[in-house]
Amino acid sequence: MSIPGNTLETDLVSLRDRVNQQLAEYVSPGAFTSAADCPSRLRESMAYSLLAGGKRLRPLLVLLTSEACGGRVEAALPAACAIEMVHTYSLIHDDLPAMDDDDLRRGRPTNHKVYGEAMAILAGDALLTLAFEVVAQFTPRPDVAAACCVDLASASGWCGMVAGQVADLEAEAAGVSEKNSPDKALSQLEAIHRRKTGRLLTSAVTLGARVALATPELMKRLEQFGKCVGLAFQIADDLLDVTGDAAKLGKKVGKDASLGKMTYPGLLGVEASRQKADALIDEACQMLQPLGEQGDKLAALAKFMTRRDH
Ligand code: IPE
Ligand code: IPE
Ligand code: MG
Ligand code: MG
Ligand code: MG
Repeated sequence: MSIPGNTLETDLVSLRDRVNQQLAEYVSPGAFTSAADCPSRLRESMAYSLLAGGKRLRPLLVLLTSEACGGRVEAALPAACAIEMVHTYSLIHDDLPAMDDDDLRRGRPTNHKVYGEAMAILAGDALLTLAFEVVAQFTPRPDVAAACCVDLASASGWCGMVAGQVADLEAEAAGVSEKNSPDKALSQLEAIHRRKTGRLLTSAVTLGARVALATPELMKRLEQFGKCVGLAFQIADDLLDVTGDAAKLGKKVGKDASLGKMTYPGLLGVEASRQKADALIDEACQMLQPLGEQGDKLAALAKFMTRRDH
């Protein structure tokens, strides 16, 4: 990951290394008292996708938000790893033939291409449940751990990310963009993106704030920050599917148009989509004002997330 011109890059690389190390530990046979009972092929399949080298943006958001609120990295690390497990499960399932039917992810053949569909589904299930085991067991203070579990569950579940994935597939099946008026299509698309991607990214921010015991006022502003960044992030993902380079992205491009997905560039065009993402990031950064300089790293990460090339 390259964020030019500041020391943030060094900070991010070292935080990302800690996340990667901790993730590897969490899926190792010695991680929990019962972890050695995991069937070896299942563990391999989970580790194959989890340790494949994603950008780790959600864990970084957890850790930088916690830091901006005065929290310690050690306290936020379990939640940071847990959200990456949920995200990785969502990618494994998103790539299945029944969903987006992709064969390249994080620069490697997708999980089901290597381990078969049944094992890919089960590896996703196991990563999802492991995430909650990790947050509940390792987040300091039981009340904070419980609040983090509720936050992560509601962001990823039936009214959050899963709901967004359902809406995404329904829109694809119905070819809604042609039938609807442009305004209606745009608000439908925003509703899809806010749930399928935005909710989990918002949760990354609020998990970091919770672990650092942020005040309710600050939590509210950070939640708004997360919502804006979440939507901007999916607009950037849609844009990269049109303008990006598969080798850099580690996944195929041009898939959205071929599947008939509703996307921002599809509805607004490339330039207006970029402007919309930039405006959302400006709005997000305004939310960080009360943090002063302590919010600078978060603001820089948010900008990178929408102006990235991978
Ligand atoms: C891709 O997410 C899937 C979406 C939610 C749009 P990322 O771009 O964060 O993927 P990784 O984690 O770096 O592989
Ligand atoms: C994926 O969105 C969102 C989730 C996995 C929840 P996309 O389908 O656009 O992600 P990519 O482009 O395959 O990474
Ligand atoms: Mg998808
Ligand atoms: Mg996909
Ligand atoms: Mg996409």
